[in-house]
Amino acid sequence: MKPDQWHFSRPELAAGYLGLFGLGLSSARTLFARRRMGKTEFLIKDLIPAAKQAGYLTAYVNLWDDDEEPAGALVGALYGAIEPNWWAKLARKANSPVRKLKASGKIPVFGEASVEAEMTADDKKFVGTLLSDALKAFDSQTKPLLLIIDEAQVLAAAAHSNFAHALRAGLDVRKDRLKVIFAGSSESTLRTMFGRSSEPFFNWAPLEPFPLLGRDFIQFMVKKVNTITKHQLSMKHAVAAFDQLNNTPEFFRRFLERHLTYPFDGPEAALEFTKEHVFNSDQFRRQWTGLLPADRALLGMMADGKVSDFHGQAAREQLAALLGLPEAPPVNMPAHSLRRLQADNIVTKLAHGEYRFEDEAFAQWIREHGALNGEASS
Ligand SMILES: Nc1ncnc2c1ncn2[C@@H]1O[C@H](COP(=O)(O)OP(=O)(O)OP(=O)(O)O)[C@@H](O)[C@H]1O
Ligand SMILES: [Mg+2]
Repeated sequence: MKPDQWHFSRPELAAGYLGLFGLGLSSARTLFARRRMGKTEFLIKDLIPAAKQAGYLTAYVNLWDDDEEPAGALVGALYGAIEPNWWAKLARKANSPVRKLKASGKIPVFGEASVEAEMTADDKKFVGTLLSDALKAFDSQTKPLLLIIDEAQVLAAAAHSNFAHALRAGLDVRKDRLKVIFAGSSESTLRTMFGRSSEPFFNWAPLEPFPLLGRDFIQFMVKKVNTITKHQLSMKHAVAAFDQLNNTPEFFRRFLERHLTYPFDGPEAALEFTKEHVFNSDQFRRQWTGLLPADRALLGMMADGKVSDFHGQAAREQLAALLGLPEAPPVNMPAHSLRRLQADNIVTKLAHGEYRFEDEAFAQWIREHGALNGEASS
């Protein structure tokens, strides 16, 4: 595969994680960051190659690719890492669930990792068997394995609880050679998953923010851009653009693309164009208009960033004013809103009772277009 010219690699960060695992002090980590901040790109383009280099087998699964049946996707990825021919090999084994699937004519045209998608509910009990088979295959060889579970918050769903317990038990006894990275954008769900004692992964992997891209990244990109256009982009313009795009690498790349396509218009115009596009999406408009007025009012306040205690008297008086209520609503009104907004993955609750947007772009959109009556202004 041709290396991605525009990928800013982060070898120190990758080495840092591998170093931690290598020391044996820790065998699992959970990384979180807002949407589009570069988690997946780092995991796939930096961490996996570095891990391979260091002698690890590597398995990557993105549970969003199949959030109905994450177990199958995960087992497929795990198996694929250990035993490249796992599917064929399993199919030859007597009593193998795979054999049964084959007999039933359900051999998918795949994508081994997507095997599960083809299974019916009746077949699903075999996933547990496949997991333990995969782990046995792991035990029968000597290499360490790095398992990367992206969008890991999917495992927190009650529907996947049995599998999560089985997985946790399987990983637990193999900590010396099986290292796990969980990643995700839903901080609140990840916190529940690893912070609530009733959850299978309670206290299992320390949760830490994924280090965001910053000045080095901007510099790298600007240098690249300036090698291909006569219209040189200054760091000053680039830093300002990155900042106004909420430090989001994906949006910054769109800005660069625009700059390269319309160099004569200048960087300010490219930035305006990009902002207009990334912060003005129809999706935000739909999401906004679909919310209850009380939830919109609260989100508007949150986007303004002036209120810290949403249950307090001052905040409730502001809610009353926004909603045209005769007096401040009771505490349970913001409480219900916050619960709904968390359930919809719109806001996340930090440990110390502070709330924030999961997607900073939505906050920006609300600041610019959100009007309480739901008819978002444009
Ligand atoms: N290291 C990097 N170098 C260059 N571009 C990057 C880098 N990291 C991220 N990007 C850009 O940002 C985009 C989004 O990154 P990525 O998909 O990794 O984010 P994410 O944090 O996994 O988001 P999500 O939570 O939505 O899955 C990439 O497609 C790429 O355009
Ligand atoms: Mg991702």
